[in-house]
Amino acid sequence: MKNLLSIEELTAEEMKELLALGHRLKAERGMHRELPLANQTWALIFSKSSTRTRVSFEVGVSELGGRPMFLSVRDIQLGRGEPIRDTARVLGRMIHGAIIRTYAQEELEEFAQLSGLPTINALTDREHPCQILADLLTIEERYGVGAWKDMRIAFFGDVDNNMGRSWMWAAKHLGFTLVLAGPEQALPKPHVLQELDCPNIICTTDPEEGVRGCTVVNTDTWISMGQEAEKGTKEKAFFPYQVNKQLMSLAAPNASVFHCLPAYRGYEITNEVLEANADIIFTEAENRLHAQKAVLYALAHAAR
Ligand code: CP
Ligand code: NVA
Repeated sequence: MKNLLSIEELTAEEMKELLALGHRLKAERGMHRELPLANQTWALIFSKSSTRTRVSFEVGVSELGGRPMFLSVRDIQLGRGEPIRDTARVLGRMIHGAIIRTYAQEELEEFAQLSGLPTINALTDREHPCQILADLLTIEERYGVGAWKDMRIAFFGDVDNNMGRSWMWAAKHLGFTLVLAGPEQALPKPHVLQELDCPNIICTTDPEEGVRGCTVVNTDTWISMGQEAEKGTKEKAFFPYQVNKQLMSLAAPNASVFHCLPAYRGYEITNEVLEANADIIFTEAENRLHAQKAVLYALAHAAR
């Protein structure tokens, strides 16, 4: 594994190895015998806001012996119009790895290609692979290693966003049943599903049908970063897919609610449901650190 650009590009084996490594690194936190990023500098180049991703990567790089360097696009010349291809070629000669949060997936891919650096997707408009790895790690902690295999996992709301898409690729690779429940406008287009060729992905506009039998119910903001202008038009159509107590009463008896955060209480999730699931939701946030340390560790080893 040279980069982590998407869940699409990972294999099932690579995902399982990253999860096993994530569990190990979590158990060994503070006692790592090997520091694979020693004497290395890894840049975090962020065009969008972040709390969890930024902090977990800065801490993760440090704990593996490296030096994180946060570069907001507001401060570097990229924000004033310097092309990504020039930024990539400059940084490629100075640092050891890059963690990028941006809009277009193509920008991330161009950076990876032209810098020659191990490059990690810290969220693009297309995918959020680090979050999915942390979510799978959290599912394994709560329900057992590989437990996702026989599960019905739901994603409610804006299912055609970066989180929904990464979940679809995870379902394709790992074979669990993924239920996407949202308004017609947010469901993946038929040609997307046809190309994905994944019979274990079920789409529905019926929230009650969607949640039945689900052990994990995911949701995310209805308005992803960069889509603020759509707020007024989107909300009305999405309210039937709010994750609330009544919806959760129809899920599997041992069901948990997952949210990548930040959450917008009263919109995609009620305060009551979020607080009732706070233990797992904040463990999910914590597991960003451990899952991403596994990614950094794997990339540092592959680059040797
Ligand atoms: N879930 C997530 O990526 O959070 P941040 O936007 O705070 O990084
Ligand atoms: N779909 C959300 C995820 C935030 C972590 C967004 O892109 O804003």
